[in-house]
Amino acid sequence: MNEKNQGMRRKLTDYGDAEFSLYLRKAFIKAMGFTDDALSRPVIGIANTFSSYNACHATVPQIVEAIKRGVMLAGGLPMDFPTISLHESFSYPTSMYLRNLMSMDTEEMMRALPMDACIVIGGCDKTVPAQLMAAASADIPTIVVVTGPMLSGSHQGERICACTDCRRFWASYRAEQIDAREIEAVTDRLVTSAGTCGVMGTASTMACMTEAMGMMLPGGATIPAVHADRLRHAEQAGARAMSLASEGLAPSRIMTEKSLANSLRVLLAIGGSTNGLLHLAAIAGRVGIQIDMEAFDAMGSETPVLIDLKPTGSAYMDDLHAAGGMATIMRELKPLLHLDCVTVTGRTLGEEIDALPPAFEQNVVRPLSNPIHTGGGIVFLKGNLSGDGAIIKQSACSEELLVHKGRAVVFDSLDDLAARIDDPDLDVAANDVLVLRNAGPKGAPGMPEAGYIPIPKKLAKQGVKDMVRISDCRMSGTAFGTIVLHATPEAAAGGPLALVQNGDEISLDVPARRLSLEISEKELQHRRDAWAPPDEPEVRRGYQKLFFDHVTQADEGCDFDFSINRPYVGRTPV
Ligand code: FES
Repeated sequence: MNEKNQGMRRKLTDYGDAEFSLYLRKAFIKAMGFTDDALSRPVIGIANTFSSYNACHATVPQIVEAIKRGVMLAGGLPMDFPTISLHESFSYPTSMYLRNLMSMDTEEMMRALPMDACIVIGGCDKTVPAQLMAAASADIPTIVVVTGPMLSGSHQGERICACTDCRRFWASYRAEQIDAREIEAVTDRLVTSAGTCGVMGTASTMACMTEAMGMMLPGGATIPAVHADRLRHAEQAGARAMSLASEGLAPSRIMTEKSLANSLRVLLAIGGSTNGLLHLAAIAGRVGIQIDMEAFDAMGSETPVLIDLKPTGSAYMDDLHAAGGMATIMRELKPLLHLDCVTVTGRTLGEEIDALPPAFEQNVVRPLSNPIHTGGGIVFLKGNLSGDGAIIKQSACSEELLVHKGRAVVFDSLDDLAARIDDPDLDVAANDVLVLRNAGPKGAPGMPEAGYIPIPKKLAKQGVKDMVRISDCRMSGTAFGTIVLHATPEAAAGGPLALVQNGDEISLDVPARRLSLEISEKELQHRRDAWAPPDEPEVRRGYQKLFFDHVTQADEGCDFDFSINRPYVGRTPV
């Protein structure tokens, strides 16, 4: 690093006189008690995402302190700065609507503030994708540190944890199997500590994918939020950021077609959230790489699901960590990974795997020879109802519904769904296919996690636990069921879901990768010709206007069109 351009000398405010800018900057920052010695050191920025609204990030202050310790032990000056913090339950209308805003905020702060490297502290679902998108675009040496998963708790002797169990208890309440008092009591037990959801939901998925991509120090994905190891990991990240800065190891050297392919491989092997695919498309787009869905599907066929974790299995994230966490997963996956990818350690993924401690007996991560599912955790569906593609998480499906034909029961919007799903007069049977449309990136807006369409109450009471459900929105990684998601283009943009009518026959064949509306092409064309877009919401100003004017569809990760590094220069998985 050229000392003349390091630390506080970077990114001088433009007054037309660089020396004046530096003089003024020093005068102001000295008001915070810094000495000239401190101000002469390399600066490590720390994106601080603490928020009183975000329980998943409750431990961020301790993490910031540990990172600062690491930076200072290595001779640098740590400077934390606030960015937007997004929690799933405190993001109206959806956190997905705000992900790109957080990404822009983080990217512009990374660009605007003087720093030689940056550590971003993410955790809750959309935060890590937003930060990786930002890091890719700003291309400043960056390490991701996550807050880590919460601990599991218990209710009436049963082990539980957010948020797969949240949905199970709510389904029981809807089916009148538990009463209002018990569901209230459950809210005291589901989230037993600070940290991200303790199952393989989107937060855990993104943490594992980030480590596989090489943007996190090894071992960081699964350490529970409240373990002392979490703080030691943060301290190590602080120290490593100093070397990263001097080496100039920027994300563009780490985020490549191969490393993104490794990340997708891990997504499949952990039975991760479908959101992981959407976010990876957005992250890859920032470095000019497009997801090749056919290749991803083929990768799925040769990638078994190895971990026995909720929502598809039985264990929790603290079990995965006790079983060795990502080390155990990466050891198993080694033959399927690109080992020559450089990571934030400065070493290759292969070197990191070779340096792992020996394996030990555990029952959470299966060997390649004895997986939970043989392949195809997430499947890419084609057919006249898929448009440019829809996906389904095969490992979360009911076996008996993987090949299914049924009558469409259509809901035109989220409001329509809320108004009619529990209507005792709703014409619906267990074999029907529930269709929710106008719930995509623009239609909702913000592509909410509403794809887990509730089983109509009258069927739930009869014991129906799963039905084929199709939508143009997303599903929480903590949910399960035979649920087709991300139909692209969305109905509000004229995608095929817009053409379905109540009573149409829909055919799903997951092994054959088909999703079909069983009507003639002539009738389909007739409906296409008659289709009119839904009324545009009254968008007048601000972020809402930016969102509606520029959000892309699921195949491009719902990033803003102007943020994607087009034209694409590569495709992954390779
Ligand atoms: Fe934050 Fe689940 S709500 S990770």
